[in-house]
Amino acid sequence: MKAVVYEGPFNVQVEEVEDPRIEAPTDALVRVTSTCICGSDLHMYEGRTKAEPGIVFGHENQGIVEEVGSAVVTVRSGDRVNLPFNIGCGFCNNCERGYTGFCLTVNPGFAGGAYGYVNMGPYKGGQAEHLRVPFADFNCLQLPEGEEHEADFAMLSDIFPTGYHGAAIAEVNPGETVAVFGAGPVGIMAAYSCMLRGASVVYVVDRVPERLSKAEEIGCVPIDFSRGDAVDQIREMRGGDGVMKGIDAVGYQAQSGQDGEEQPNIVLEELIRVVNPTGKIGIPGLYVPSDPGAGDPHARAGMLPISFGRLFEKGLSLHTGQCNVKRYNRYLRDLIVAGRARPSLIVSNELPLDAAPDAYEKFDRRVEGYTKVVLHPVAA
Ligand SMILES: NC(=O)c1ccc[n+]([C@@H]2O[C@H](COP(=O)([O-])OP(=O)(O)OC[C@H]3O[C@@H](n4cnc5c(N)ncnc54)[C@H](O)[C@@H]3O)[C@@H](O)[C@H]2O)c1
Ligand SMILES: [Zn+2]
Ligand SMILES: [Zn+2]
Repeated sequence: MKAVVYEGPFNVQVEEVEDPRIEAPTDALVRVTSTCICGSDLHMYEGRTKAEPGIVFGHENQGIVEEVGSAVVTVRSGDRVNLPFNIGCGFCNNCERGYTGFCLTVNPGFAGGAYGYVNMGPYKGGQAEHLRVPFADFNCLQLPEGEEHEADFAMLSDIFPTGYHGAAIAEVNPGETVAVFGAGPVGIMAAYSCMLRGASVVYVVDRVPERLSKAEEIGCVPIDFSRGDAVDQIREMRGGDGVMKGIDAVGYQAQSGQDGEEQPNIVLEELIRVVNPTGKIGIPGLYVPSDPGAGDPHARAGMLPISFGRLFEKGLSLHTGQCNVKRYNRYLRDLIVAGRARPSLIVSNELPLDAAPDAYEKFDRRVEGYTKVVLHPVAA
């Protein structure tokens, strides 16, 4: 089959690889109709992780079940399913408590597994014609038959639940004010989720005009951090006040507004400054325990200086971590079915698998018109 293979920094190719097969009786095989390129893939693409050449990328997968193992009970050939990017077993101590992003079974020696991702286990990604899904009963989210909402449902593997996770771990409540840093797919979905949860005002900080317009389109207040300190801009608009909740949808590759250089702690610092005392900060943006590509020796070891004393003084809470997609995906699916949510608003391009190398290159440069790419390896 054809698949998107990582060859080395800034180089992916569509290549012929071995077809997946049923390896355990609990597996399913899925024909992939939609699979997205994610900001998380870019960390590997740019050589900013320990990813080795040969990885098949793709953790945001959806398709039609073509075969199931003998122990699969609820999933049948022909079912239309969306797959959470994290792979869970369903029965370990973490999965049982809803922390399916930290499964103890699927990636021995580590809490968490995923498709097509460095350190996340041996699972091939779904930027390919076919995908093997372990523990299929637990991991397949059933979708209505047909082709309706294909792009909306495709957002359920990662960015819609992850954005929602940002709002959930910041405990955004009706009427509250929120600052979301980052207007990439995750940031826009976080802002959108804050609106769904009834926030009164949501500020969205980024520097990419198209992304800021998207924030405005969904009813948020855009803040361009290349035009001046984001926190000062928000406080000025609020007569000096900060906000009650903050969300980091940027992560460790954050840039400074002054020169565009990377400054991995900048968003954390700005959140500590902008969130009012006793407020909460949700951090779905990715931070890594080692960053071989970082200039600074502390950052290389995953250590970032933050104003912890100020954080303590203000009584702020921080909540980090990978999204437990299964905690939210069923309910977010039902919002889509009910017409109450349309996460595909973030999708900019729907392309065949062969277009992946070009799409990676453009998405990585944040080229205008490349916000969220959905690849369609086979017809729906
Ligand atoms: N926790 C999870 O489970 C999970 C899942 C998916 C993605 N992520 C992470 O979420 C983050 C965002 O993902 P994405 O797909 O939206 O990525 P992205 O790279 O498309 O978006 C990041 C945005 O942040 C902006 N930005 C950079 N510096 C900034 C600053 N100082 N202030 C404000 N904005 C700034 C960039 O211009 C960009 O638009 C990534 O770190 C990704 O790895 C986490
Ligand atoms: Zn993703
Ligand atoms: Zn588990």
